[in-house]
Amino acid sequence: MTPLEYLQQTQAKRMEELFEFLRFPSVSAKSEHKADLQRCAEWLRKHFQDLGLSSSLFPTSGNPIVYAEYLVGPQRPTILYYGHYDVQPPEPLELWASPPFEPVVRDGCIYARGSSDDKGQTFTHLKGIEAILKAEGTLPVNVKFLIEGQEEGGSPEDLSRFIQKEKKRLQADIVVVSDTSQFSKDLPAVTFGLRGIASVEIFAYGPNRDLHSGTFGGAIGNPVNLLCEMIGRLHDKNGRILVPGFYQDCRLPGKWEREQFRRLPYREANYRKELGVTALYGEKSYSTFERTWVRPTLDVNGIQGGYQGEGGKTIIPSRASAKITMRLVPDMKPADIAGKLEKYLKKIAPPCIRLEMVYHGGAEAVVVPTDGPWLEAARCAIRKGFGKAPVFMKEGGSIPVANNFKSSLGLDTLFLGFGLNSDNIHSPNEHFRVVDFERGCRTAVALPYEIARVKAG
Ligand code: BES
Ligand code: ZN
Repeated sequence: MTPLEYLQQTQAKRMEELFEFLRFPSVSAKSEHKADLQRCAEWLRKHFQDLGLSSSLFPTSGNPIVYAEYLVGPQRPTILYYGHYDVQPPEPLELWASPPFEPVVRDGCIYARGSSDDKGQTFTHLKGIEAILKAEGTLPVNVKFLIEGQEEGGSPEDLSRFIQKEKKRLQADIVVVSDTSQFSKDLPAVTFGLRGIASVEIFAYGPNRDLHSGTFGGAIGNPVNLLCEMIGRLHDKNGRILVPGFYQDCRLPGKWEREQFRRLPYREANYRKELGVTALYGEKSYSTFERTWVRPTLDVNGIQGGYQGEGGKTIIPSRASAKITMRLVPDMKPADIAGKLEKYLKKIAPPCIRLEMVYHGGAEAVVVPTDGPWLEAARCAIRKGFGKAPVFMKEGGSIPVANNFKSSLGLDTLFLGFGLNSDNIHSPNEHFRVVDFERGCRTAVALPYEIARVKAG
């Protein structure tokens, strides 16, 4: 029996196991789910153990890190796999066609929160390793798995401390992450860079209590009006960000990458239609791929203030707040950018408002070297798994820990994305196509052999 035959024979069981994994409501943003995260981590640890890997949980101040390994010998290369078992909050629940933590297959897709981001994608590598072990009794590489439970919260200090502390244990040749996307349906991709992120929250304080808007309106600054006005001054009409110094360290897209992007199939009309917008919006003189992959952004993720309940309430609210994230490109430093935003907002805030900013952390952009052997290994593995050669692209999302792998372990990361931008990650009705799960598992079987091959030269 070959590993691929093993995969074929175990398809139903594999799906049932993924469903078990997806049933844990491992929402890291909410403290009420702490026990669910713990149970999910324990289930995963046990699953690794059942596959024959040695596995353990490492407690953190938040959710445990699941670590597992199978070592065949120092003469072999080592892959360090990274993934996350935590998921985004499922709300708004009423928009789900089936409950987020009761996975089902509908129209060829597995519907559940985390099905694509990132339980389903991570699971492909467990199943790939299982198939090789079951078929061959050994592996062509050493494998180490680090699966964390706090990625959706920005992978706080806990994880970088763990990586720093366990440097020796985590020694490897390359990191492999499947937490990104294919270019499009049936066009797989190798991602050679991700944007970084800086995350902040702005609080605008006005009067010491909510005021009657008839009695006081006209004489008192309204924090909601004024915060919106300030937010309106963050971009100019060409989509450029007006924070002084924002673009100072921002590396311009290279010639080679712009050329790669230009070659990718793109139809603006389809893009608009799929997203339900009548026009696109963005920084002038950049293409959609450049805007989303290699240009920085500033977006309000949520805004709060005043009365939100049923009916009306005539008030001048005493406060307003906004959650803002900025996506960063190479050479931009998250804390520096957050500081520049704070300075600018404080400068433009009218004197009737007291402004506070809280910095929630960030990560720098990630760049994968395009020379060297690893991308070639990824390309060959994807070609085997998908029956089609991948394109090279970048993506706009962030995976904060990749920087720690580089700085603490000196390791580059290969991003082999099996998801799709249309999987609704971070949104209602998240799903993962069954074919993508299967092709992901086949790629996961091919990858260790390809890594062993390129490493042997
Ligand atoms: N899987 C995503 C990252 C991603 C999404 C990469 C799409 C490429 C394309 C990951 O789980 C995620 O959402 N990360 C957060 C990190 C943040 C909370 C620090 C993100 O990008 O918003
Ligand atoms: Zn993810």
